[in-house]
Formats: sequence, structure tokens, C-alpha cells
Amino acid sequence: MKELIECYVEEIRSATIEAAEDRAAQIEKFRVRFLGRKGVMNELFEQFKTLPSDQKKEIGIALNQLKNAAMEKVEEFRCYLEQAPTMEHKHDLTLPTDFESIGSRHVLSVTMNEIVDIFSRIGFTVEESVEIEDDWHLFSALNFPPDHPARDMQDTFFVEKQEGRQEVALRTHTSSVQVRVMEHSQPPIRIIAPGRVFRNEAISARAHCIFHQVEALYVDRHVTFADLKQTLLYFAKEMFGEQTQIRLRPSYFPFTEPSAEMDISCNICGGKGCNICKGTGWLEILGCGMVDPNVLEACGIDSKQYSGFALGMGVERMAMLKHQIKDLRLYFENDLRFLHQFDNIV
Ligand code: DAH
Repeated sequence: MKELIECYVEEIRSATIEAAEDRAAQIEKFRVRFLGRKGVMNELFEQFKTLPSDQKKEIGIALNQLKNAAMEKVEEFRCYLEQAPTMEHKHDLTLPTDFESIGSRHVLSVTMNEIVDIFSRIGFTVEESVEIEDDWHLFSALNFPPDHPARDMQDTFFVEKQEGRQEVALRTHTSSVQVRVMEHSQPPIRIIAPGRVFRNEAISARAHCIFHQVEALYVDRHVTFADLKQTLLYFAKEMFGEQTQIRLRPSYFPFTEPSAEMDISCNICGGKGCNICKGTGWLEILGCGMVDPNVLEACGIDSKQYSGFALGMGVERMAMLKHQIKDLRLYFENDLRFLHQFDNIV
């Protein structure tokens, strides 16, 4: 029996648990083998009863030592199990930093900041305003006739419709910020208003119900269309490169007179014609015009003394043209494979 006990002592001493397998199960298996009801210890104690009494003292001591060794080993394993996860996740501080895990700005934020930067270099300051707007600031003050289609449910998300009260809607354009600014300040006014806008559109590669615009407004004495044109040329060159040319086409917006749409020479083919510019050599990028005197008056600004220009552009479209993004939906899907492509454009 002495040899047998010595064998078990050695087995306990050299027992280990495999890190790769279920460690708690391995510990339990070890415990049951030695300390379980039908385990080694109980079996040895049974045999112990049958020993001649002159051997009992020596073997008894050895058995107790064996039992203690088994219990200590179980305890040692349990301590290891508790500490093991932290030991495994300890960082090696000598390894280089993992730059991948640092977040980056969304391509739309970068584009919006870039537009704001370009305008702030020529004295425009940022104005932000509410996204839930009333009829006056969205449409009436901006000279929209009562039956204009933009006031239709088809285009606008109305928030509440109460008898005898102004309608309230999610803003459909950032032009409403013009009104808010002119109502509470007098010229000279030179502001830029970046922000989110909402339209009741079916989501597709070319349209979304949420998108972003940047609006600019300049009101002072003697502001002319020439000021507008020079500002637009400066913006286009800063945004799309020195070689960029602009072209203005007559257009219509209720809040500007005259109104225009601006195209830039295609930054892909340089104006020769390609599939991005549909062979025309030009890309449409924004709407603009001289602020209609009706709008100035509605906001409490004397249209005899002051004139101004306004312009508005879509940020998604700017980013699409700059980075050749083909589908609007990509901006909002949070697919890291798309987003990581713009990690270095800040
Ligand atoms: N608000 C117009 C839109 O959402 C964009 C726009 C056009 C803004 C002409 C302007 C402007 O300030 O002068 O389509």
C-alpha cells in the first residue's frame, strides 16, 4: 500500500490542466478522481481499515498527507482558473500601437467641415438652428406661394397639424436659417449654415429622406451678382482644385431673384465628357441667387438699402463628386469597409 500511495503522491504533484480545453471540467475531473465518493482516497481509506494494526499509524499519516495534497492541488487549480483570463489578456507594452482601432470622421463630416472652412476663410461665420421648423421660417418668409408643391405632404414631413395654428415640419432645407438670422440681426450679415434636412422621398441610390446641406447668406449694402459669382468661383477652386471652372445657368427659386444653378467643370474628365458628367463636361453642384427683396422685407431688413446673395448645396452630392461615391445609401449603412476608405482624408 505504501508504494501505491507514493504513486498517487507523484501523480498529484505532476498534475496539470490543459489551457486549450475546458479548464473547469478538468479540475472537476481531478477532484472527483481523488476526493469523490468513489474516488482514490475513499478506496484507500477502505483498504486502510483492513490493515494490521501495527501498520496503521505509518500508513494513516501517509494517507492524510495524500488527501491534503489532493485538496491543495484542487485549490491551486481554482486560483489559476480565476487569474488565467487576466493573465492571457495582459498587453505586451513593447508592441507597436494598433492605429487601426482609432476611429475616424465620417466622410460627410469631413466634407461638411471642408465647406465650412472654405467659407470661414472669407469671413463667413457658422449659424446653426432648429431641425423642426414652422411654416413661416420654412416657406412663407422665403416667398413660397401658398400653393407651392414643397408645401405638399409629398415632399415634407409634417410634425403636427393643429386647427388654426401654423404647420410644423422637419426642415426641408437649411434656407430657413437665413430667415432666423435676418430676423434677429441687421446687415452686414455673412453666415454659413450647415445642417441636416429631411424630405419625404423614397430611399434609392440617388435620393434619401435625410441628408445634409450647407447654406450661405451675405447681406450688406451694394452686394451684387458679381460678388456672388466671385465667391462661387473661389469656393469651386478651393473645393475641387485650381483648374476648376464654373458656369451659371438661369433657374428659379422662390427666395432668390435672379436665381441660378452652378455647374463645375467635370473633375473626372477635366471637361472632355465622361460617364460621370454624362458626356457634358459639367456637373451641377448648387443653387444660388440674389436674395428676393420680399424675403429681406419679411425678415425686417430694408430692401432699399440692402441687397444680398444666398446659395445652398447638398453635402452628400459634394462628397459623391469629390470621392466618386456612386450610391447615397452607403453614407448611412455604417459599413466599415466603406467608411475606412476615407480614414486619411481629414
Ligand atoms: N434651398 C434650396 C434647396 O433645398 C437650395 C438653395 C437654392 C438655397 C438657391 C439657396 C439658393 O440659398 O439661393 O434646394
